[in-house]
Amino acid sequence: MTYVIDGDAVAADVRTDLAGCIDTLEGAGVTPGLATVLVGDDPASETYVSMKQRDCEELGMDGVHVALDADASPQELYEAIEKLNADPDVHGYLVQDPVPDHIDYREVLRRIDPAKDVDGFHPANVGRLVAGDPRFKPCTPHGVQKLLGAAGVDPEGEDVAIVGRSRIVGKPLANLLVQKAPGGNATVTVCHSRTTDLAAKTRAADVVVAAVGVPEMIDGSMLAEGVVVIDVGVNRVDAANEKGYELVGDVAFESASEKASAITPVPGGVGPMTRAMLLYNTVKAASEQEGVDVELP
Ligand SMILES: NC(=O)c1ccc[n+]([C@@H]2O[C@H](COP(=O)([O-])OP(=O)(O)OC[C@H]3O[C@@H](n4cnc5c(N)ncnc54)[C@H](OP(=O)(O)O)[C@@H]3O)[C@@H](O)[C@H]2O)c1
Repeated sequence: MTYVIDGDAVAADVRTDLAGCIDTLEGAGVTPGLATVLVGDDPASETYVSMKQRDCEELGMDGVHVALDADASPQELYEAIEKLNADPDVHGYLVQDPVPDHIDYREVLRRIDPAKDVDGFHPANVGRLVAGDPRFKPCTPHGVQKLLGAAGVDPEGEDVAIVGRSRIVGKPLANLLVQKAPGGNATVTVCHSRTTDLAAKTRAADVVVAAVGVPEMIDGSMLAEGVVVIDVGVNRVDAANEKGYELVGDVAFESASEKASAITPVPGGVGPMTRAMLLYNTVKAASEQEGVDVELP
């Protein structure tokens, strides 16, 4: 029997625990504040930031949204960033990626106060993660680590193949899982588009994490019997339904399930965890900036 890892349920547990932390902060007169910054009107990005704002509302956190026109100059964005850096009510914020082509996202990241960088993408926070002293674990990799824990999968001593080496998923996840720390101690292989014989790497793994962005690329033939599969991918494919599309992962769920001992679905796997871990980082930021101890889940 394949165990389907319920990301919605694990995320709900994280949120319940965070609600307790928020009560503690409120008791000390602190309401955690998260700001989102969006340049332009990309529909997918608008959906993401509105979900983040709704999450704040649901947990009783302050949500602030800063919307800039698609043709806003880099300087206008930097000024918004300066304001957020200086605003004591904003404990954490993010600038939604992608930004328009005339803005250099790396320069944007460098200007964010690392103490408020709840995405964990500022070079100083990336460095701390690599050094084994993370301040903010990036939300999706942290969510994957939590999901593994909730499914009773200890990465220690396991061979993990991560397919994808992006700045936001593959690389930070590899760093998390390889750390000499609880939830780490794995032997990690990071695969990408230049990897030769990908299937040999995934077949040799006890845990496969797919973060590729190619619909259903990894199927059962690429997996060993009993493998744990975490599917980070979210891809829109045409479908004969009202919306005209459906979401599928990077893993062919049915065929992978024939081999896997545990697997995450899409949707309802990693996605809800990413959202929950952003709230986690915001609560952590508020606790640290305000000097109020909370017991993070
Ligand atoms: N659920 C969530 O919360 C969440 C969060 C973030 C992302 N996602 C989803 O996760 C997926 C990956 O996102 P991302 O931002 O990490 O993507 P990305 O930046 O596009 O990176 C994709 C990675 O996959 C590798 N790749 C592409 N084709 C490959 C192939 N045929 N064989 C092996 N490797 C291949 C690329 O290799 P190169 O480096 O060589 O180009 C790259 O490292 C997307 O579907 C995205 O929507 C979901």
